Formats: sequence, structure tokens, C-alpha cells
Amino acid sequence: MKKADIGLIGLAVMGENLAMNMESKGFTVAVYNRTTEKVTRFVEGRARGKNFIGCMSVEELCAAIERPRKVMMMVKAGKPVDDLIAQLLTVLEPGDVIIDGGNAHYPDTIRRCAEVEAKGLLYVGCGVSGGEEGALKGPSLMPGGSPAAWPLVAPIFQKICAHVNGEPCCDWVGEGGAGHFVKMVHNGIEYGDMQLICEAYQLMKDYLHMSCEEMHEVFSAWNETELDSYLIQITRDILAHRDEDGEYVVEKILDTAGQKGTGKWTAISALDQGVSLTLIGESVFARCLSAIKEERVAASKVLGGPEAKFEGDRAAFIESIRQALYASKIVSYAQGYQLMRAAAKAYGWKLNYGGIALMWRGGCIIRSVFLGKIKEAFEKDGELVNLMLDPFFSGELQKAQKGWREVCAAAMVNGIPIPAFSSALSYYDGYRCARLPANLLQAQRDYFGAHTYERVDRPRGEFFHTNWTGEGGDTAAGQYNA
Ligand code: 6PG
Repeated sequence: MKKADIGLIGLAVMGENLAMNMESKGFTVAVYNRTTEKVTRFVEGRARGKNFIGCMSVEELCAAIERPRKVMMMVKAGKPVDDLIAQLLTVLEPGDVIIDGGNAHYPDTIRRCAEVEAKGLLYVGCGVSGGEEGALKGPSLMPGGSPAAWPLVAPIFQKICAHVNGEPCCDWVGEGGAGHFVKMVHNGIEYGDMQLICEAYQLMKDYLHMSCEEMHEVFSAWNETELDSYLIQITRDILAHRDEDGEYVVEKILDTAGQKGTGKWTAISALDQGVSLTLIGESVFARCLSAIKEERVAASKVLGGPEAKFEGDRAAFIESIRQALYASKIVSYAQGYQLMRAAAKAYGWKLNYGGIALMWRGGCIIRSVFLGKIKEAFEKDGELVNLMLDPFFSGELQKAQKGWREVCAAAMVNGIPIPAFSSALSYYDGYRCARLPANLLQAQRDYFGAHTYERVDRPRGEFFHTNWTGEGGDTAAGQYNA
């Protein structure tokens, strides 16, 4: 019997669909699941008559795969991955490849990669995006880990992934945890994109008092513009979806957001790297605020605010909301790329920023036409310091600015929360500010703690202390930045 090209462990929805995808592209797939009834159900059901080898143990699975073996784990992130790796290491041999296709936290992937390599095997932490449909029809794949594993997995991964204009949405990201890091940033950006759309929705609903049908029309139209993307498309469709009683489903859904943690990891890693990732941070906090529903309901009866009243040209204001969304989105991606740049430096990864945009261009949740422009920007200038400085994007920000400011101002005056729109605008204004008020902040630090400051009239790196009260001594604290 022909041996399998790859083994896959974990037949939950993503694993099953990914296995089906591999088989449909001509690969023979050995499958195993800890609850073995799932294997039986799969091979006798969806997989019947196809090139699958159902296995009832890890040993059986490993014996069924062509060497060097490639085993892809599609199991819950965390301890189950460590347990499975420990089990696989007792059966696999040097040169074999263990692949984790779950949403692992990248420090775990760095550790696992080192542990597996120490045993003479290869490890790949691969971001997989696109949900169940993507897994089946072509996901975006972001592999990183042991470089020697890439030529072994590339023929399979670059065949099963999404393609845009014939180019695969999968390429080698980098060593260690680079693949899972880039997937984490993808998810953070996903949080940001979703929050921006939700703020546009709230403005239309609570300020312009639009119906779901009207908003559906707006999102349909927006999808024909620079905002053309998967998340705009699904929002358009969600807004038109009616329940059995004819009412719109979206208005019946409780307004408390869930989160599995990848957005939070992105924000934490930005704090660790010292990168202003404000929009994604605000998007995570917005989910947290939404989650305290009872508190908000109680507060709504106590804390006053203005009554939202719109007067003016509705169509023009809707266009301004679109500009605000577009400009904020540029800021969000600029911040996400800043984070990747900082992490690449810290971990010694050689990230290909244009290549990452291409990986995200198709198959994944944040796929959009916009990512094509980002790819162009980094292809033109691989060293681009900030996406906002690319001539195309700086021009777009300039064009969108008037509407963006108008929307932020109106939302503030009318009491509509817009944490992502407004933090994006503040970042934009802060970034283009040649002189920020941090001079005063440094003076305050020096006043109360003798933390010292640098001066505009002296070279960088020279530190000064002022005896502000006449009572402090001349001893200054040491300088270090966390
Ligand atoms: C993807 C998604 C996916 C993510 C879910 C849930 O790329 O296919 O990012 O990996 O886990 O969207 O995320 P939250 O529960 O945190 O919203």
C-alpha cells in the first residue's frame, strides 16, 4: 500500500477540512485522532473512497507515512501540543518533521522548536488562517521553525494554500517562532479591522439612525472601494440576515464579545517591544468593556451624556465614516508592521514584509485588496520605516484626513464611543509631531526622582539633572529604559 505523504493529528473542524484539502490536491493523508471513534467516523463518512489512511494510534500513524515523515498537529493550543510532541518524539526518527498548525503562542513555538531540534528532528510552527472554509478550500499559511523543514513541507503547503494571481499565500516566514508570531499579528490586525467596522456600524446605527437594510447597502457599496475585503463582505451579509421571525439576527445578538487570546498576546508583545500598537490594544480593551454588560447597563442609568443628534448631509457623513475607517486601517497595519519589525530585530528573524502581505492577501480572515498595496509598498522599499510614510499611503491619509477628523469630532460631541478611530487619529497626529510634550514629562521625572533628561542644545546621550526645589542633592538616578 502507498505510504502517506503527510500525517495529520486532530480531526476537529480545522483538522478535518485541512486533511480533505490535502487529499483533494493529490496527497495521501494518514489521519489520527485521540478519540478514535472520530477516525472511524471520518474514514467511513466524508473520506470514504478517498486517499486517506485511518490510524488508531500515533505509532500506526507514524508507520503509515513516507520518510522523512511530516506530521501536522491540529490540536488545541497549550498542553495538548506539548503532550503530543512528547508522544511523537518516542516514535519519530531524526530528520522527521513535526508541524503545529494551531494558534500556539510564539514563545511556546520557540521553545518547542529548540526541544525538537535537540532530538535531531525538525519543527514547524505554522499559522493557519481562514476558518473552516479556508482550511478546506485554501488557507493562508504562515510557516516558521527549522529552516531545513521548509523544502520538505513547501510542495504540500504551497499547493493546498490560497493563491492570488497564481501566487501562493504561503511562504517561509523565518526561524523558531516567526510563523506563529506573524499569525498572532494577523489575529491582532483582525481584531482591529473588526473593531473599526463595529465603530462604523455604531455610528450609522446610533448617530445616523440607519436600519440594517440601509447599512447593508452601505457595506455593499464600500466593498466596491479600497475597503474591498472579506470582513466587509461578511458584515454586508450579516446585516441582511433575518431570523425565522423576519427580524435581523444581528440585533438579537448579545453585545458581549468573546476572545481566545491572540489579540491580547499581540498587545502584550507590543508593550514588551515598546511599540505603540494603540489600535489593536484599544480593540482588545473594547472587547473587555463589552464583556461587562451588567455593569454597563447599570452605568447607563447613572452616567449622563449628550443625546446623539445628526443634522446635515447623511450621504456625505457616511462617506466620511468610510474615510475614517480607511485611514484608521492604514494606521493599524502601520502599527502591526512596526511590531513585526521590532520583533524581527529582537529575535533575529529576517522577515519579508512584502511576502507577509502576500500571505495575507488571500485565504485568511483579513484578506483584502488593500494588502496588495501594502505588498507593493514593501516591494518598492523593503526598509520602509513606517507604512504611513510610503508615498501611496501618505497620500491616502492626506485625502481621508478631513472626513476622519470630522467623524472623530462628531462622535466625541455626540457621545458615541470610537476607541479605534480616535486612537488611530491620535497616533497619526503624534507620529507627525516633531516635538511632543515629553520634555515636560522628563522634567517631571527628574523633579520627583532625579531620573535626568537630555537637552535639545546638547548632543544625545548626555544626561542632566536639575535641582528643581533647591533642596534635592546633585545625585542623579541611573538611566535605563525598560
Ligand atoms: C483565523 C482566525 C482564527 C481565530 C478566530 C477566533 O485566522 O482563522 O484568526 O485563528 O482563532 O478568529 O479568534 P477570537 O476568539 O480571539 O476572536
